[in-house]
Amino acid sequence: MHNAVIAASILSADMSKLGEDTKNVLDAGADFIHIDVMDNHYVPNLTFGPIVVKALRNFGIQAPLDVHLMINPVDRIIPEFAEAGADYITFHPEASENISHTINLIRECKCKPGLVFNPKTPLDILKSFLGKIDMVLLMSVNPGFGGQSFIESVFDKLKNAREIIDQSKYDVRLEIDGGVKVDNIRKIAEAGADTFVAGSAIFGSNNYKTTIKMMQEQIALVNN
Ligand code: DX5
Ligand code: ZN
Repeated sequence: MHNAVIAASILSADMSKLGEDTKNVLDAGADFIHIDVMDNHYVPNLTFGPIVVKALRNFGIQAPLDVHLMINPVDRIIPEFAEAGADYITFHPEASENISHTINLIRECKCKPGLVFNPKTPLDILKSFLGKIDMVLLMSVNPGFGGQSFIESVFDKLKNAREIIDQSKYDVRLEIDGGVKVDNIRKIAEAGADTFVAGSAIFGSNNYKTTIKMMQEQIALVNN
């Protein structure tokens, strides 16, 4: 399993001072910045485009940027996110006309590709793409909004994904996204996640540093 990573989702950051808030969450100990790209079509919400990713880089943000595309179509804009400074680019297979093509495109753009599975999407296709991707992202809420509750049935799915990854010889991160809090992150880590997206739990807290530290402590109880 990979080292544990906290990916702070800026969907819950203060949009009026996004650069500063992003810097603050990294200073507080977040490892990655998770960027939820929504198009008011694949999901009923509208958020960030490549210019926001570029602006964060220009502001001086150097951490890995984990760009989660909830958009359809997906291919056309991938090079723009790569050019803007994305590191990981994950997408929902149902939003792609040709999954292999989209993965290859992300790779050609020098980014790390990942596949995202909605809570009700089975993991059937995972095995056939494991050798081509760097990240598997399991949604533990229905995509579109921050601040929702973790869907309990995803615990078993997470264990299943962990088994599939471990049985393969491939080096892939297993990320969980939605409803991750201090009080459930240990159980999520036990189920096999190594990359934890958290938005409202961090940005909605009074002290980012304390919250991230508590999350890391919970995860460490599993890894040690
Ligand atoms: C939902 C997004 C999540 C969201 C998580 O579509 O993909 O990344 O920001 O937010 P919280 O941590 O508040 O559930
Ligand atoms: Zn996300």
